[in-house]
Amino acid sequence: MTGPDELRSRFADIYGRQAQCVAFAPGRVNLIGEHIDYVLGCVMPCATLRGVSVAAIADGGTFRVCSDNFSSSQPTAFSLEDTGLEGAAAFAQAVAYELQAAPCNLLVWGDLPIAAGLSSSAALCVALAAAMLAVTRERPGLPAIELVKLCQQAETVASGTGCGLMDQYASVYGSAGQALLLDIRSLSHELLPLKLNGCRLVVVNSGQPRDLGDSSYNLRRTELAEAFAQLRHRLDYGESFRDYPRERLLDGIATLPPLPRSRLEHVVTEQTRVEQFAQALRSADLQRMGRLLSESHHSLSANYKVSTPEIDILVELLQQEIGVLGARIIGGGFGGSVLALVEEAALPGALEAALRQYRVQTGLGPDWMEVTAGGGARVWLPDGRELAVREWLD
Ligand code: GLA
Repeated sequence: MTGPDELRSRFADIYGRQAQCVAFAPGRVNLIGEHIDYVLGCVMPCATLRGVSVAAIADGGTFRVCSDNFSSSQPTAFSLEDTGLEGAAAFAQAVAYELQAAPCNLLVWGDLPIAAGLSSSAALCVALAAAMLAVTRERPGLPAIELVKLCQQAETVASGTGCGLMDQYASVYGSAGQALLLDIRSLSHELLPLKLNGCRLVVVNSGQPRDLGDSSYNLRRTELAEAFAQLRHRLDYGESFRDYPRERLLDGIATLPPLPRSRLEHVVTEQTRVEQFAQALRSADLQRMGRLLSESHHSLSANYKVSTPEIDILVELLQQEIGVLGARIIGGGFGGSVLALVEEAALPGALEAALRQYRVQTGLGPDWMEVTAGGGARVWLPDGRELAVREWLD
C-alpha cells in the first residue's frame, strides 16, 4: 500500500468513514554536512521517494491514531494532556500540541525503514502536521518554514532527541532530482541538480538500528556547545564560528583539550567539506565527491565518535571495492545507514561483494537501495486539490 487511494480505502475500513485528506512527507538522505545543522552550518540533504503518509478526518471529540504498518492496527485515542504515549500516538500528540490542532482521526502508513538514519521521525511529523492542518483549519495561516520549526519541536518532545532542523526542512522543501544546499543560519537553500555521470548514490542499511534514544546524540550536542564556549572564550569571535577565518579557528581549536578539540575539528572541517562537495557536484567531479564522503566518515568516526565498529567495517569494506568512490555513515549515527557513491559498472557486483563480507564479519543483515531524490511533502486537500505543502502554505 503506497498511494493515497489505498490509504483512503484502509482508512474507511478502520474508521468506517471516508478520510477528508491525505498528506505525504518524504525521508531524506544527507549527502554531506553531518552533525552541523544544530550549530547553524550548511548541509546537503535530498528528499527520498519513500516516506510517510497520513490520512485524516476531523472529529468533534477525540484524537485517534492508527499506525497500520508499524504498531497496532487498532486506533489509539489520546488527548493533548495524556502522558506516557508511545510510537505514532506520541508523535501525533506532540504535533497536535504544537499546532494546537482540533481533534481528528488519523491513519499513518510509511515505507521508510525505521531507525535507519533516513529520518522517518521527521517525515512522520511533517505528514501528521500537514494532515492535521488540512482537516482542522480552513486556512492554514502558517508559513512552510514555521511548519518545519514546529515539526522539529514536536520531534524533540516525542523522541527525546534534540534534533536539528535539517530533516524537517528537507522533507518539506525537497525537490525531484536535486539536492538542497541548505544554510541553516539563513534558513534558505540552493537547489543542486544531482548529475552523477555514470555513478549512483546508494544507501546501505547496516542492519544495526540507530538508537538515538540512548541520548548519545544529545550528549554530542552538549559536548559541542561546551567546546564552542571554550573556543569563543579564546578567540572572542562574533555570533557564529562561520564568520571567523578557518585557519585561525583551527589554530584556536588546536590549543584546546582533546575532547573539545576533536569535536570542533569535525564541525569546522565538515563545513568546508560541504562547500567543496557542492563545487565538485557542480563540476561533476565524481572522484572528488567520493573522497569527500570518505573523509567525512573518517571525521565522524574518529573525531565526532558517532560511528560504531560494525559501521566502520561496512564503510571500510565498501571503500575497498573497485568502483566505490567513497562511503560514509549518514544521519544521527550510532548505527543506521551508510551512503556510497558507486560507478554504475560496479553495481551490483561491488556492493554485493562488500555486503557478503560484512555479513560474515558482523552477523548482521544489511540491504541496500539506490537513492533517487524525490519531491517535498504533498497534500491531497478536502476540496480535491493536490499540492506541494510549501506551495499550499506560502
Ligand atoms: C539527525 C538529526 C538532524 C541532524 C543529523 C546529523 O538526523 O535529526 O537534525 O543533526 O542527525 O547530521
